[in-house]
Amino acid sequence: MEPVKYAFVGAGNMAEALIRGLLEAGAAAPSEIAAADISEARRTHLSSAYGVCTTASNAEAASAAALVVLAVKPQGMEAVVAPLREVVGGKLVISIAAGIRLAQLETWLGTDCAIVRTMPNAPALALAGMTALCPNAACREADVETARALFSAVGDAVILDDEGLLDAVTALSGCGPGFVFEILDALAEGGVNLGLPETLSRRFALQTLFGSAKLALESGLEPATLRDRVASPGGATLAGLEALSRGKLRATLHSAMEAAARRSKELSG
Ligand SMILES: NC(=O)c1ccc[n+]([C@@H]2O[C@H](COP(=O)([O-])OP(=O)(O)OC[C@H]3O[C@@H](n4cnc5c(N)ncnc54)[C@H](OP(=O)(O)O)[C@@H]3O)[C@@H](O)[C@H]2O)c1
Repeated sequence: MEPVKYAFVGAGNMAEALIRGLLEAGAAAPSEIAAADISEARRTHLSSAYGVCTTASNAEAASAAALVVLAVKPQGMEAVVAPLREVVGGKLVISIAAGIRLAQLETWLGTDCAIVRTMPNAPALALAGMTALCPNAACREADVETARALFSAVGDAVILDDEGLLDAVTALSGCGPGFVFEILDALAEGGVNLGLPETLSRRFALQTLFGSAKLALESGLEPATLRDRVASPGGATLAGLEALSRGKLRATLHSAMEAAARRSKELSG
């Protein structure tokens, strides 16, 4: 294999999102990306959809690249990473695996290996992700910037110095899309209960969530300010907000996040 900029070890959903982001952002040409996967179907898909180089050999892809993204499932990580120890010396290694700590990666790859542990999220698939990045002590400033640029191609990216915050990040941006999809589904269902046809109700619910997030992002206003602006005294929104308060929406969301953070901590051992 010819030398490439980026190698993806494991070429599933998240690797595909990152590859798509890099290509769409013009940060890499297809010939500068290698993807290794045990699944022949995934390799065929990646090479025909994006024109990237594919291989069944993780070591071949990692050897060819300056930056290696570890994108297999957490439970398969040790078996995949340990044999790459000799190959990744001097390269930047980025892990996207949930719950795999920097200390574990350093045990498998060596403490002198520059490693960035990250927590991306599913909206990266729509190039609207949120990623937290934690570099280890071996990373230089340039390594951190290279890693940040990769995730900036698929959304927003923030560097965290404290790896301990990743459980909170997991509970918020990692699991958050699941909570939001549940809310979306409940809003659409609520519309149907009030007499709207199902397809129309889903369309109204989706555009309402999307539009509200976009307005909050573009206005830069506090969510509470925006909420108060749409809730005029004696109006319909305020009547609904009072029902949400009686149903303890805030406390329920907070306990969902606490449960997710607890589980994230358990999974990373
Ligand atoms: N999806 C998300 O929302 C999300 C969010 C944050 C973090 N992550 C992390 O991203 C990582 C990948 O998740 P994903 O959703 O992209 O999973 P995925 O779609 O299952 O991708 C993993 C890929 O790796 C392949 N693979 C398995 N064993 C391999 C091996 N020994 N060598 C090479 N390739 C191998 C799998 O093939 P087979 O399917 O044939 O096994 C699959 O194509 C995980 O560690 C996860 O924690 C995902």
